[in-house]
Amino acid sequence: MNNFTFYSPTFFAFGDGEEQNTGSLVRRFGGTKALLVYGGGSIKRNGAYDAVTASLREAGIPFVELPGIQVNPRSGKVYEGIELCRREGVDFLLAVGGGSAIDTAKAIAVGVPYDGDFWDFFSKKPAETSLPVGVVLTLSGTGSEASDSSVITHENGSLKWGNLKSDVFRPVFAVMNPRYTCSLPAYQTASGATDMLSHICERYFSNTPDVVLTDRLCEALLKTILEAAPKALKNPDDYAARADLMWAGMLAHNNSCGVGRVQDWASHQIEHELSAFYDCAHGAGLAVVMPAWMEYVMDHDVMRFARFAVNVFGCEMDFAHPENTAKEGIARLRSFFRALGMPTTLAEIGGREADIPAMVSHRAEKPGGFPFGGFVKIGPEEMEAILRLTARG
Ligand code: NZQ
Ligand code: ZN
Repeated sequence: MNNFTFYSPTFFAFGDGEEQNTGSLVRRFGGTKALLVYGGGSIKRNGAYDAVTASLREAGIPFVELPGIQVNPRSGKVYEGIELCRREGVDFLLAVGGGSAIDTAKAIAVGVPYDGDFWDFFSKKPAETSLPVGVVLTLSGTGSEASDSSVITHENGSLKWGNLKSDVFRPVFAVMNPRYTCSLPAYQTASGATDMLSHICERYFSNTPDVVLTDRLCEALLKTILEAAPKALKNPDDYAARADLMWAGMLAHNNSCGVGRVQDWASHQIEHELSAFYDCAHGAGLAVVMPAWMEYVMDHDVMRFARFAVNVFGCEMDFAHPENTAKEGIARLRSFFRALGMPTTLAEIGGREADIPAMVSHRAEKPGGFPFGGFVKIGPEEMEAILRLTARG
């Protein structure tokens, strides 16, 4: 196990009815006026908006609103939010929703105290300070409710996205009522489950030795998600399954199971190009990329893939030919995604094989474009080969 630091400052209020404490949590963490950041209206339909605004009123916290955050959130709403906060004297960001609302709130939070363009932080400059961010989570998946990341697409016409990583805007609290995730469309439930599976795999496939505890944590989380996601799809009101998914999504990405090891993150890097080109749901893009990445890198450490197959999917170990076990695990993962209703080929997310060279070039133009991947180094040729595998499925 490598040396590590671990910082997870988020206060969690988990369970049915906890949203009633939102106002007092804003106050407890120093807020006197909040900006409510949310999406296209799901929170008005499922009751989260009414509950949260009632709680803010009860706690005497005035608030202004920034609705209309879209999936794969754009910079325009961040600029709008920064201006609104300055004009209204807002000192607390409250995101109600999934990763897109949370990531927008995080970007606004670093932008308000900065005398310049917030995009500097997403392209070249470390963030040093932030307004506090609180979250009322309605979609299990990204783990943004406790993570150090914000993913924003810039609207300058060149499909440019930035992933800012910083401890300064890790949320100070996250209210997590699994009940609110019962209203999710099946596709979003599945996409969220895929995202959390991926967050664990990005950590699990590592070359760092002696990481027994975190390997086992990863496997426990993966198995739990494999069980809970189909239950939630079959019966959307299954509170126990929704609760397991919600907490698993947080544990998958606050780095509890990734400490002390070199992590991979190649599938995420490749997926972000799919989202940029086709505006697909992040989890859906991952369902396409992950099995292809696994097939491509499997020979690098066949025994790790065989262990994944046995410990996570219950495959039988073929001691004479462990590569068969490894392949079986990857096949089971792909079938699982299909059973969830996720796409597993480029064509299914509206992608075209002809775009592959453009995606690779686009990646190359980013700061630190190539190589990426902590398990196996991915250069332009490797990225192209993995994308070609996604075209086959
Ligand atoms: O906009 P509304 O009406 O709210 O509808 C949303 C949206 O259409 C809907 N939804 C959310 N909660 C709902 C609901 N519908 C019914 N009932 C509910 N309870 O779901 C749709 C998707 O929402 P979104 O927030 O976009 O999804 P998700 O949570 O998957 O977030 C995706 C974004 O997070 C980024 C992704 O790249 C993507 O931009 N990520 C952020 C990470 C982080 N900050 O740590 C890590 C991830 O790897 C990821 O990159
Ligand atoms: Zn992700």
